[in-house]
Amino acid sequence: MILVIGNTKGGVGKTTIAVNLAVLRAAAGGDVLLVDGDDQGSATLFTQLRSENMGAPGYTAVVLQGAAVRTQVRQLAPKYGDIIIDVGGRDTGSLRAALTVAHCLLVPLQPRSFDVWALDQISALVKEARELNPDLRALAFLNGADPQGRDNAEALEAIGEVEGLEVLKAVVVRRKAFPNAAAQGKAVTEMQPRDSKAVEELTVLADIAFS
Ligand SMILES: Nc1ncnc2c1ncn2[C@@H]1O[C@H](COP(=O)(O)OP(=O)(O)OP(=O)(O)O)[C@@H](O)[C@H]1O
Ligand SMILES: [Mg+2]
Repeated sequence: MILVIGNTKGGVGKTTIAVNLAVLRAAAGGDVLLVDGDDQGSATLFTQLRSENMGAPGYTAVVLQGAAVRTQVRQLAPKYGDIIIDVGGRDTGSLRAALTVAHCLLVPLQPRSFDVWALDQISALVKEARELNPDLRALAFLNGADPQGRDNAEALEAIGEVEGLEVLKAVVVRRKAFPNAAAQGKAVTEMQPRDSKAVEELTVLADIAFS
């Protein structure tokens, strides 16, 4: 399964979800490749910190940019069970290349108007990518969602209107466990004490994305 976590909006949790999914899938026994397609290099820094703290990350990590995301991922695909691609929060060559080679795009966004409005851009990119990659699934989900209140439901309804994207009912709520874990090069599944809600939400998301 080749999965890209992408959104042209920045700061929506792409890298957070990408590294957590990489750790989760690797812990489940998968042979995982994490591709850092963002020149900001956050996924790479996470992996470096993880290697220092834990000896080995448990997955393979590479940095790829632009068209190489397509050509290298194609070439590496037979060697890995899962390939998880993190990209930057802009319309980049890496994102466009990833969309042509991925089976599935996961689009995290927060339940806020600016995030929902920005989806038109990713919707257009998905439409374009499907000309080359007609089976591309595109799943939008709320990350950094509110623990309660009406905003989640309203955002989900608005996302439903965006062409070409499926909306996931599974939401990842805003939980301190995510930054706390990242600061140690860990996934939320590896933290003690465990935030069982964060773990549950991530697991449900992974089950859907990799099904
Ligand atoms: N579910 C969550 N709960 C709490 N904090 C979160 C959650 N998801 C992400 N964050 C925090 O939000 C910030 C942005 O997350 P992240 O860097 O993963 O976003 P990004 O989309 O990769 O950003 P960029 O566009 O810059 O690559 C980070 O501080 C991260 O710890
Ligand atoms: Mg990022």
